[in-house]
Amino acid sequence: MHTSFEEIRDGFQALRFDGTALGLIDQRLLPAEERWLRLTDIDGVITAIADLVVRGAPAIGVAAAYGAVIAARSRGNDLAGWQRDMQRLAQARPTAVNLVWAVERMRAVVSESGCLEPERLAAEALAIHRADIAANLAMARAGSEWIEPGSGVLTHCNTGSLATGGIGTALGIVIEGVRAGRVERVYADETRPWLQGSRLTAWELARAGVDFQVIVEGAAAALMASGAVQWVITGADRIAANGDVANKIGTYALAVLARYHGVQMMVAAPSSTLDPAMASGQGIAIEQRDSAEIWRAAGLEAQPPGFAAWNPVFDLTPAELVDCIVTERGVFRPPYDFSQF
Ligand code: MRU
Repeated sequence: MHTSFEEIRDGFQALRFDGTALGLIDQRLLPAEERWLRLTDIDGVITAIADLVVRGAPAIGVAAAYGAVIAARSRGNDLAGWQRDMQRLAQARPTAVNLVWAVERMRAVVSESGCLEPERLAAEALAIHRADIAANLAMARAGSEWIEPGSGVLTHCNTGSLATGGIGTALGIVIEGVRAGRVERVYADETRPWLQGSRLTAWELARAGVDFQVIVEGAAAALMASGAVQWVITGADRIAANGDVANKIGTYALAVLARYHGVQMMVAAPSSTLDPAMASGQGIAIEQRDSAEIWRAAGLEAQPPGFAAWNPVFDLTPAELVDCIVTERGVFRPPYDFSQF
């Protein structure tokens, strides 16, 4: 079973599954180097998710689904061992709900049949991947229609084909908006400390032939004050039932700035990113990563003696600062209620 999806159109396919191995482009090295990793055991998949070889909420979910297939092949009839693998897989990163969601989908297949059937699991993983591709396309169409022709857009982190199974969430909307003649100016936040914007979004936009400019995070207020952007468009790692959004650190700051400057804030995410059981964002676990990421961004190989850093890699944007949330089921406006999704 090979994953090759024509529906992706010109989007890059960053996850490939051949039935036995998961192929991942190593996002830690982009754009300097396009190196593929071939993962054939569950430990490799867990490490790849934890170390950001693959990242972005929907892509993490798809990778986890294929990881469940890989684990089932090596576990044979050892169902308890597979469940332990799934436990570790679900904990590889805490904030993106797509990871737990995908693991639960794979577990449901196993509890239905009562045993490990790799082919059935592979079919489920493929269904998850295909649904994400379709959701991306639906969001790109629905979201781009909300953008007034002639608009400028600022996006944050990376939400394109590297971060999803298909053409992306927020970045899919931006690219569709450019093609539809609605978006005239595209700005990508560099997204410190891991630089998803200046490394990955820039790489994707250049591949797509879209003109863009990278800005440092500190330039966002000045950019908005200049009148060059009308929309901030981001993805999400988890959206609570009340519409609070957990996303890449810096999203909250952009939402506050946007409201002050009369710029609209759009969040795009598939239903797999909604967490109906989470009443508000206050209950969402915010991942803290090694401060080494901050020193690396500063060109330092290690933390200098006496230095210290705080490195939360997500933040919470209150629903009241979000003008619309785009999913594959349509565009939602406040007040949000995703408790029935
Ligand atoms: O730490 P990352 O790179 O996995 O964080 C990714 C983001 O925050 C994205 O903006 C989010 O997952 C939406 S991806 C379509």
